[in-house]
Amino acid sequence: MLSSKPKNCSSTPLEVIDDLHREEIDLLNEFMKVLPNSDDEQIDDWIQRLERQVLHHFNEEEACMKRVMYPAFKKHVEAHSETLKAIKEAKKTWEEERDLLQLWNFLEYDYMAWFEHHVRDFDIPAAEFIRQCEEAE
Ligand SMILES: [Fe+2]
Repeated sequence: MLSSKPKNCSSTPLEVIDDLHREEIDLLNEFMKVLPNSDDEQIDDWIQRLERQVLHHFNEEEACMKRVMYPAFKKHVEAHSETLKAIKEAKKTWEEERDLLQLWNFLEYDYMAWFEHHVRDFDIPAAEFIRQCEEAE
């Protein structure tokens, strides 16, 4: 039985970024909950929903960084692009192999580990910078 504890994530100094993260974690938790009892088509829909949410989350974050000309913008965008690539690969593998355990492992471990590290190493420093700029405005 694939069981998953609900996830949460560290907060940043910016509410707008925390809201994006919360939306994504909520979606991921819901997905993990229904995953063991979903059919292939339902899982396809969930992956699509997750992909759209991730894209929205990255686009919004990037717009915030761009607005203040964040110095580490390029590196941050590269980290987002790599993650989008990993999600697309996991999606492709799922479509080819229909291996539920493999997909579950990707979401439960790979994606969640990435999320934690990314928030700590990229989003918190970016949010601190954006906040300082906003306060100086
Ligand atoms: Fe980010």
